[in-house]
Amino acid sequence: MSEISNLPNSKKIILKTRPNGDPVVSDFDIIEEIAKAPDDGEVLVEVQALEIGAWIRTTLNETAFHGSTPIDGTIPALGNGKVIISKSDKFKEGDIVTGPLMAQSYTTMPADFFTKVTNPEIDPFTQIGVLGVTTGLTAYFGIYDVGQVKEDEIVLVSGAAGGVGALVCQLAKLKGAKVIGIAGGREKCDVLINEVGVDGTIDYKSEDIDKKIKEFAPEGIDIFFDNVGGEILDFALDNLRDRARVVICGAISQYSHHDKVDGPSLYLRLAEKYARMEGFTVMHFEEHYEKASKELLDLHNQGKLKVPFHIEEGIDNFPLALQKLFTGGNTGKLMVKV
Ligand SMILES: NC(=O)c1ccc[n+]([C@@H]2O[C@H](COP(=O)([O-])OP(=O)(O)OC[C@H]3O[C@@H](n4cnc5c(N)ncnc54)[C@H](OP(=O)(O)O)[C@@H]3O)[C@@H](O)[C@H]2O)c1
Repeated sequence: MSEISNLPNSKKIILKTRPNGDPVVSDFDIIEEIAKAPDDGEVLVEVQALEIGAWIRTTLNETAFHGSTPIDGTIPALGNGKVIISKSDKFKEGDIVTGPLMAQSYTTMPADFFTKVTNPEIDPFTQIGVLGVTTGLTAYFGIYDVGQVKEDEIVLVSGAAGGVGALVCQLAKLKGAKVIGIAGGREKCDVLINEVGVDGTIDYKSEDIDKKIKEFAPEGIDIFFDNVGGEILDFALDNLRDRARVVICGAISQYSHHDKVDGPSLYLRLAEKYARMEGFTVMHFEEHYEKASKELLDLHNQGKLKVPFHIEEGIDNFPLALQKLFTGGNTGKLMVKV
């Protein structure tokens, strides 16, 4: 066992002020301190990589679905890391684990908070960005279980050039669907066509969304997979085919005023089209993680899940990364290499 007196210096990102709107770098502070020695049942983990997820923004409010971060509290974050001191039978030193490591370079927590990564040969960015709970598994359950995508259906995806969105596009294509991705900017749309392999794109910042949907799907869309919410949801509702499914995965355009979102004004289209709108969180499918993870791993090993990543270097850049998520500064899953 490592010498407990040789504890490393650790940096952590704390909440300085609650964001007023989208999070900005000045809402956070960086604190440096010696990592805490693990007690019995705990492990000290060297954090390798953290995912930047939109859910983190919701925790910065005073009341929050995922739990509220107090002022001066460490920002929550999921990621992968290496156990460097173990005081638990569950892990040995050198094990790679995944879980709620928080935005810091070293974490001391109960071993039970973590799961052992069973394919440590796969790099942490693929683990988080393709096979992770908030990426691959979210996309998998959202488009397969909630959306129930079928061959030849037309699927419209918002936030398509992001982490979840790009995977949803690929998983839908693998079922033989025709996929239209909505993203902000020509560059992201080009990535969607050339790397992700969608059939069409809509640049919501410069193109007429309604006109473009009608061009691609004159008879309407079968599935709308929504990561964004707001007016894009209304455009989709106005273009549904009979028996369409609207999958509410997230609404990043609304997280800064989470308690009073701009709801869809065209929800009556659901009745007119005998359509349904269904929301989900990936946690609702927890008992199926193992099976879905196996399928995702197979697809990854066959080279069928080619999605872009966006990696920021260093824990100091965690606040900047979070700011970028809300200003579209990422193409593909945004992560921090700690
Ligand atoms: N249901 C679940 O269990 C679950 C799990 C994980 C994630 N999610 C949700 O999935 C969605 C995507 O998450 P992610 O982590 O993969 O993030 P992401 O899509 O990689 O990144 C966020 C993207 O959203 C777009 N965006 C940001 N602000 C916007 C605005 N005001 N209007 C329109 N687009 C905006 C930006 O792309 P553009 O440049 O294209 O605008 C940005 O790159 C989020 O809504 C998240 O909450 C849900």
